[in-house]
Amino acid sequence: MHRHEWAQEHLAIIASTGSGKTWTSVILIEELLKKGATILVIDPHGEYVHIKNSISRLGPQFLDKVIIISASEVGVGDLRYKINTMKVQPEILADVAGVPRGASKIRYVIYLVHTLVRTIVKYSGAKQLGTPDSMIRVINEVLDHGASTSIDRVLRRLGVVLNEEGRAKAEKVLKELEDLIDSKTKKSLLVSARVYLRRLRRLGLYTYWSLPLDKVLRPSSVAIVNLAGLSDEVQDHVVYHILSRVFRARVNHVRNLPGSRYPFPVVVILEEAHRFAQPRTVRSTLSLGVISRIAGEGRKFGVYLVVITQRPSKVDPDVLSQCNSQVILRLVNQRDVMAVLSASEVLNEELGRLIPMLDVGEGIVVGPITPLPLVIRLRDRVLDYGGSDIDLSKAWTAQSDLGIEELRRGVEKVLSTRVGARSVVEAISLINDVSDVSLDTGVLSGRVGNTHVEVRLGENSWSCEVCGSPYEPCPHVIALTAKAIKNGLLRVD
Ligand SMILES: Nc1ncnc2c1ncn2[C@@H]1O[C@H](COP(=O)(O)OP(=O)(O)OP(=O)(O)O)[C@@H](O)[C@H]1O
Ligand SMILES: [Mg+2]
Ligand SMILES: [Zn+2]
Repeated sequence: MHRHEWAQEHLAIIASTGSGKTWTSVILIEELLKKGATILVIDPHGEYVHIKNSISRLGPQFLDKVIIISASEVGVGDLRYKINTMKVQPEILADVAGVPRGASKIRYVIYLVHTLVRTIVKYSGAKQLGTPDSMIRVINEVLDHGASTSIDRVLRRLGVVLNEEGRAKAEKVLKELEDLIDSKTKKSLLVSARVYLRRLRRLGLYTYWSLPLDKVLRPSSVAIVNLAGLSDEVQDHVVYHILSRVFRARVNHVRNLPGSRYPFPVVVILEEAHRFAQPRTVRSTLSLGVISRIAGEGRKFGVYLVVITQRPSKVDPDVLSQCNSQVILRLVNQRDVMAVLSASEVLNEELGRLIPMLDVGEGIVVGPITPLPLVIRLRDRVLDYGGSDIDLSKAWTAQSDLGIEELRRGVEKVLSTRVGARSVVEAISLINDVSDVSLDTGVLSGRVGNTHVEVRLGENSWSCEVCGSPYEPCPHVIALTAKAIKNGLLRVD
């Protein structure tokens, strides 16, 4: 029956939420590890990190084979993912920092400051200066001295010297920056740019070097990239960054090109693929480019994709149709069933009618691994993961008579920032654990479980012991705020 091995085709694992996708993926990881594969998991919710604690059950030889890489400063991880700020296009930095698409002047400031720092790094050789912090220091210098800022002052502030050529190049960029504040736009532009650069600095992700790929990819190992607590834009950038490097390292190996190389095939497990690989017409993500490339050419270079999603109708159809093998578990939404049928050559309507009726743990397998669609029952897994089983709607109605949407709007008002319905739903599962809520001179504080959380109301800022100070409120912050609203501590009318 096994005409091909699993890992020589792209695979899609598709099911409605709570129908066993991650379970299936964990079984796949167990099998792949036993075969010696190199696995990279993109884990937006930090669900896979529990694999590490249970890995000994798979055998003592796997004890040091799970590497958790957190992309946030505070998430669970053995290593922190890092991105070299100077190698990122300033436009992307602006996106990640949350600069609105239309704010072209702020984007221009960020571009100029980035160019200036890059020039200084290039001509001085002082690599360690290539950070958001240096960019902020440049802005501070210009704000302090306005149009009389000199390049020598900037260099002194950064503690670095340049040769004549470098000095001239840097001076030219600085001049453009000064011209900007001389004109009518005034200083507020620099101040705004600084706000966004501080957000960037707070992420802790952007520095003057990138995490080496050989810390991520190892044979017979699974690297889990924990993206929990990061905004969509940051997640997108990390996924784009790491997948681009993995793909390039494989191309370099196969084509015998210079640069970073990796000598073994890599399986990339992409959870919540609809976040990263939406059709271009819906929302264009950075990562879609590299995901499409891997979907199209990855097999040639030994990069295999496992696309996991509950919304196949929201995944780029080209990406989906490249997944020749599919594991389809229970899927209730008719549009999603249609998307699956249209991406597959072997699934017919008869099987389509079966899909919504599957039980948890049952699935249909199609593709080169089986000549005919096969109905399967999944085996037990060995490893643990952190899926949550709470019935959110029930947990919520037991809690309050406020509707989710009403609550979302209330929290948005209090925090003066956009709050996604999704994070509200996540927060609701935490609301039972909120305690010690108090409001004192504009500071709302309390605990979510054992986590201390604070919201400074006047400043629109917040902090959480687990998530740090994310610039989009984390579920802990939202849970605390929601509880305060519910208890009547904050009024939102
Ligand atoms: N084959 C199985 N046998 C027994 N229980 C299962 C099986 N598959 C899944 N479950 C249970 O069903 C629940 C949901 O599974 P899982 O977390 O894998 O779903 P999911 O599709 O990844 O959900 P989400 O969309 O929330 O990520 C879990 O509690 C899990 O223990
Ligand atoms: Mg899951
Ligand atoms: Zn938090």
